[in-house]
Amino acid sequence: MSSHDNHQSLVHDILQQFDIDSDDVSKVTQRFLRQLQEGLDHPRPWQLPSYVYHVPDGSEKGTFLAVDLGGTNCRICLVDLLGNSTYNVTQTKQTVPEHLRINPRYQPLFSFIAKALREFLDRHKLRPENDCSAGARRIPLGFTFSFTCEQTSISKGTLIQWDKGWDIPEALGKDPCAMLQESIDEMELPVQVSALANDSVGTLLSRAYTSQEQGSTLAGVIIGTGTNAAYIEKVCNVQRLPRPERKRTHDSIVLNTEWGCFDDDLEVLPITSFDRALDASSINPRQQQLEKRVSGMYLGELMRLVILHCHEQGVFNMILGEESPCNRPYGLDSSFLSLLAKDKAAESLGVASAIERVLSAQGSTLRDARVLAQLADGIVRRSARLAGSALGAIIIQSGRLSDTQSEKGTVQVTSLQTHRHRSQRPKHFGRGCGLLSRIVGWLKRSIPSSTGPRNVEDKPLSRGSEQDIIDIGVDGSLIQLYPGFEAHMRSALRDIQEIGPDGERKVRMGLAKDGSGVGAALMANAAKLS
Ligand code: GLC
Repeated sequence: MSSHDNHQSLVHDILQQFDIDSDDVSKVTQRFLRQLQEGLDHPRPWQLPSYVYHVPDGSEKGTFLAVDLGGTNCRICLVDLLGNSTYNVTQTKQTVPEHLRINPRYQPLFSFIAKALREFLDRHKLRPENDCSAGARRIPLGFTFSFTCEQTSISKGTLIQWDKGWDIPEALGKDPCAMLQESIDEMELPVQVSALANDSVGTLLSRAYTSQEQGSTLAGVIIGTGTNAAYIEKVCNVQRLPRPERKRTHDSIVLNTEWGCFDDDLEVLPITSFDRALDASSINPRQQQLEKRVSGMYLGELMRLVILHCHEQGVFNMILGEESPCNRPYGLDSSFLSLLAKDKAAESLGVASAIERVLSAQGSTLRDARVLAQLADGIVRRSARLAGSALGAIIIQSGRLSDTQSEKGTVQVTSLQTHRHRSQRPKHFGRGCGLLSRIVGWLKRSIPSSTGPRNVEDKPLSRGSEQDIIDIGVDGSLIQLYPGFEAHMRSALRDIQEIGPDGERKVRMGLAKDGSGVGAALMANAAKLS
């Protein structure tokens, strides 16, 4: 075999390792369904109740502050909910320095946020001078804190674990709202932290608020630095909820699935040598296994490990300089993968020079560009199909695909306001709660049903009947910027027996713009009413 053939087969072999076929997709979905169910029945660090019982309908009004913390930035927003599915937002963004993200103490991080808040209030003249008296009106603030928190109410929770490279041990077991309030009070700011929101929950709420199309929102999905999803579940299915909560009159509740930690024991998730190396050198080995295969923070790192391997094997013509980001852990950003995907055929000279610039490489050729694009596509395709498999589990769990279920097992959501102009029909949530419907659900998951052809060519979204639409709010750099990410997710949905091409057509994915900020404002509004 010539060295060219050897290189071809090495690349082919890597792509094979990253490929997940329709059987793999189904296994992942079934495993996730079991995990969703387990988290409904028992307290686990996933399926976390948000204590949000009302889904917005666009009529909510009010002015709220929001702090959004979770990737590498801290955003401060002033959100004006105008009550007609629209809003105004004024915001500032600051990068959180690494020494605050990794620190033995929590106080430096929270006083950094409080200082940013103080500057924001001053710039926008929101801090009346000489009015810090105890009785002064405080502006309600929703805190989007995108880490795993077990909540006990809409405004209280305890931090269970850090991820995405953050590590502040002293904060574990403490309430993020209380830690932020402590620093706010030290600076005597007229602000009350009134709601704790995960970004996935915020995405769901903001999509429900802003979407003027028909079809009720079922879930919010984040595919950015990290990955997660929240969805609407029937209260009576959530056995882990404390009894008094289950006795309340609400029908449904938003759950934060924390799907990034799904299958941490690696029963069904694919494992390549690159995944092993990434996990072993991460600050949270054996944790967040789905996240490490799906989210932006890790895809750049997987790509870096693959490039280094191929480079060592002499696959590329290009030479990586010593200062190349490929020689630094996490040196490569996932935006590099998007850059390669944008030039599909990798034929333009532009992409070769972009590669040299980003990788600090010399002598790259069009063939190098093509190989890099293929590798990036393999990594991202796996990410999107895994995210699609996980979303499939949520869709099946919701029972929204089955007509019988949606006739028998529906509940009406209590909207905060009853005047809906865009949809007069009730929102349908989930399968029924009785033993019978649980057995039906179990049977449906255990007995494979026959479906149409697999791997149908991607085609433009066909809408299905508007009544049946399952609306999903999405947010995050990867899903927004990587061309074809949604198409790959959809290919996985079609591969799932219980969903198939017909079910996939009922799914509408739409961007939840300003998901975290608007979502936090909506949470603060919900807290006012709870
Ligand atoms: C991580 C966090 C989760 C968050 C997600 C997306 O998985 O644990 O809470 O929603 O990242 O930011």
